[in-house]
Amino acid sequence: MPGTVIAIDGPAASGKSSVSKGVAEALGYTFVSSGHFYRTLAWGILRDALPLPLQATEVDAWVPTLSLELKDSRIFLDGQDATGHLSAPEVATMVSQAAAIPSIRNLVNSNLRTLANSLDLVMEGRDIGSVVFPDTPYKFYLDASPEERARRRAREGLVDSVSERDRLDSSRATAPLIIPQGADVIDTTHLTLNEVIEVVLSHLQDVTPSRS
Ligand code: DC
Repeated sequence: MPGTVIAIDGPAASGKSSVSKGVAEALGYTFVSSGHFYRTLAWGILRDALPLPLQATEVDAWVPTLSLELKDSRIFLDGQDATGHLSAPEVATMVSQAAAIPSIRNLVNSNLRTLANSLDLVMEGRDIGSVVFPDTPYKFYLDASPEERARRRAREGLVDSVSERDRLDSSRATAPLIIPQGADVIDTTHLTLNEVIEVVLSHLQDVTPSRS
């Protein structure tokens, strides 16, 4: 039987990763960041020196040559562990461009859906409740004010143009960031991490903890 999927979407630095990890831990589910898959491919584009600005035709020819794998919370591209590169500023700059290309999205989506064949998941991203798992009954959309989100990234010591990525992620033609139909919307601006986790868990009373 396929696993249960809890979808947590929202803009950059809305608290998705920390909240998703906390919810996954509470339920014994596997945490998956779909953004890590997109960041891995953005890193691969830089690694393989694809011509810039990215052209969909070049990317379409490159994608079938790739092998992408999640193993023990680390992501491998063609056998190379990309995990340590995912927060690099050049990856953050490339990732929204990469994520706008349909062949990249198809590759990531098929990997994400395969994971759900055998695991109970808390998966965070931009289109998890709207496109990847539209039929899951468990959908959340986290948001926070732009000022608070910029502060959170700065506190993490990361260089990241949150507002520019949001603009690109929300305006692209394929799977833009939207509030998925049926999602519970949570404004995290004035909530602590534990408070947000509690709000999410209180909406998941009927979810069974993982069987594994
Ligand atoms: O969650 P994150 O900041 O690590 O995501 C990095 C980028 O990946 C984000 O700017 C847009 C893209 N992304 C996406 O398009 N769809 C997803 N489901 C997750 C991330």
